[in-house]
Amino acid sequence: MLQINGDNVKSHLLLILCAITLSTAELHKDTQTKKFPDGFLFGASTSAYQIEGAWNVDGKSENIWDHITHKIPCFLSNCDTGDVAANSYYLYKRDVEMMRELGLDFYRFSISWTRILPTSFPDKINEAGKNYYNNLINEMLKYNITPMVTLYHGDLPQKLQQIGGWTNPEVSKWFSDYARVAFELFGDRVKHWFTLNEPKETCNQDYATGFRDLSGIADYLCAKNVLLAHGKAYEVYNNEFRASQNGNVGIVVSVKWYEPETEKEIDAAEDVAIFEWGQFIHPIFSETGDFPKKMKERIAKKSAEQGFPSSRLPNFSPEEVELVRGSADFFGLNHYSTCIAYRNESINGLYESPSYHDDMNVITYTPNDWKSTESASTNVSWGFYKVLTKIRNDYGNPPIYITENGFNSEIGGILDDNRMSYLKSYLNAMLDAISEGSDIRLYSIWSLMDNFEWGTGYKSKYGLYEVNYTSGKFERVPRKSAYFYRNVLKTRVLDINFEPDMSVPICEEN
Ligand SMILES: *[C@@H]1O[C@H](CO)[C@@H](O)[C@H](O)[C@H]1NC(C)=O
Ligand SMILES: *[C@@H]1O[C@H](CO)[C@@H](O)[C@H](O)[C@H]1NC(C)=O
Repeated sequence: MLQINGDNVKSHLLLILCAITLSTAELHKDTQTKKFPDGFLFGASTSAYQIEGAWNVDGKSENIWDHITHKIPCFLSNCDTGDVAANSYYLYKRDVEMMRELGLDFYRFSISWTRILPTSFPDKINEAGKNYYNNLINEMLKYNITPMVTLYHGDLPQKLQQIGGWTNPEVSKWFSDYARVAFELFGDRVKHWFTLNEPKETCNQDYATGFRDLSGIADYLCAKNVLLAHGKAYEVYNNEFRASQNGNVGIVVSVKWYEPETEKEIDAAEDVAIFEWGQFIHPIFSETGDFPKKMKERIAKKSAEQGFPSSRLPNFSPEEVELVRGSADFFGLNHYSTCIAYRNESINGLYESPSYHDDMNVITYTPNDWKSTESASTNVSWGFYKVLTKIRNDYGNPPIYITENGFNSEIGGILDDNRMSYLKSYLNAMLDAISEGSDIRLYSIWSLMDNFEWGTGYKSKYGLYEVNYTSGKFERVPRKSAYFYRNVLKTRVLDINFEPDMSVPICEEN
């Protein structure tokens, strides 16, 4: 198999090869196919800390992940850090070349707050940071690849963390000030903005933020502030940029499916959905706004029983409810997996009290036969279908951007048949939801390439491209799934029986 590296001469050779050896095996010729809707867009996602590296280069200051991984050596297994990651700060041109090889319509990446604003505030804009993102965006536009930008993807400035981070009520202003700078710098070319990625993970399970110590209090303060931060950034765009820039702004929420263990567990499954994602979706996408009623009542009741003078869940003022309600032009949805939910007597004393899990009061698990052999990833695509159907029914069929979906392998290698099979099955489930009326506009795979996967470091591999971390060169090599994805983009058809011919080099086509 031919491999592509950053070398220009080789790339040119490959281009010629591509032109003469385009195999007929690549042409779709099966009856078991489904067409994607006209205008449907395909892309791939990454985030700054997970791929850029260059953590202390050219004026960038420290974020919470830089801090925690340095302060506690071997904080993660394998002692991984994002110091170098996939080295995309230096290899962005190769990244864009990969986008061309795949034929992506768009690429979703994130801006590092501390690369743009080293003080955390707009008093000083870091020229080198600005240049990096300008170069990346312009390189993509040169090839008609649409940039889609996440403003916050897990990497809060450490200086802000030291004064409470997402629990400090001022954080919504700090964030919207940062958002304004990004709109100003890049909004002439960037028309799709994601304010925050996965607020639930930010508030409830980010290893670097340390909120775990005060669960049941800090995570709810964070939830309120994250929602206000999003609402204010949306307002900034509306008031100052929408008329001239004419783009879209939304948020990205991770949405798992929780299947009731038995018919009797429907209530438990509903509760976990309300706590895990309803707390972020309901305030923005429901007609009434605010946190879900059931969540408010549950936490108020428990707080009173526990001797708190008021609910541990903070209130939104009526003005705040209105700021957040409807503050999205689309619903950014990340989906990976499905698990089972139930509750019985064994739950008594299972969770610390007070805590988020004690408030939720549900047990979840993933059956072994749903798990893949190479990671904890599940292959349960009907869960994706059910999530999409529920969002359509419960929230008035909002326009949906699938901002992440993908398969984790802890084995790696180029022949990723399980990833390909996962993608076929999940794309199929998405097409089923579309055919029943879900307004899904685009699909973005996680991820373009292997990267630093937070708590599991480099052990978890999600890439269409494998990254070589040991050669010192970070070469990106297309996996079998890259060939598959490329074919989907080329044909705009899902062919369940498609088998890539990997003897033909993957390369951009003209
Ligand atoms: C994933 O699920 C699909 C649909 O049920 C199935 O066809 C496929 O074989 C599964 N793949 C793996 C690796 O389990
Ligand atoms: C990484 O590169 C080294 C040196 O070229 C090579 O020996 C190794 O097999 C590569 N690893 C992967 C995973 O491709």
